[in-house]
Amino acid sequence: MERIAVYPGSFDPVTLGHLDIIERSAKIFDKIIVGVLNNNSKIPLFSAEERVSMLVEVTKHLENVQVMAFEGLLVDFASQLHASVIIRGLRAVTDFEYELQMAQTNRIMQGNIDTFFLTTSLEYSYLSSSVVREVAKFGGDVAKFVPASVIPVLYKKVRRKEDGIK
Ligand code: COA
Repeated sequence: MERIAVYPGSFDPVTLGHLDIIERSAKIFDKIIVGVLNNNSKIPLFSAEERVSMLVEVTKHLENVQVMAFEGLLVDFASQLHASVIIRGLRAVTDFEYELQMAQTNRIMQGNIDTFFLTTSLEYSYLSSSVVREVAKFGGDVAKFVPASVIPVLYKKVRRKEDGIK
């Protein structure tokens, strides 16, 4: 049986930290579905379509990785895809409480889906998408934070936002 895992998140935008988790999990599981959350309480900088398209581009070297947007409950999305695992990255101890709560809740809702935690590689343990957005907004260098293909898309987006264009 194929071991399918879902790696969910906002990916607003995808960072090198996310890519690190995707690449490592792609070696462990038969198939990884990156799930881009489309009903987030956070107001995203990028639309779900834009976030999906950036992820498709940065994962194109990984044959067993697929990217999809989703709405609603993560466990429902995972079940529809016959995934038995949810992947989450743990950056620091501060992530733990929130992640534990999510993992427990998801397990109560859907007992046959387990959460699999990977510790983020040390060089990305400080990274978050909001920090990346902030650096880009003020014209800082984001090359150490996001994949190369994301850089021009990100600068373009923050500039357009500054100009009041969506
Ligand atoms: N590298 C870089 N950044 C990372 C990272 C990594 N490896 N892992 C997490 N992050 C950052 C993200 O960039 C994001 O930063 P930001 O807040 O500055 O934007 C932050 O950590 C949280 O990110 P994310 O992984 O996108 O989680 P989330 O909290 O936005 O969403 C879901 C988590 C999608 C799993 C959750 O909201 C969900 O399942 N929603 C669906 C509804 C549902 O089922 N709810 C019940 C769950 S109990």
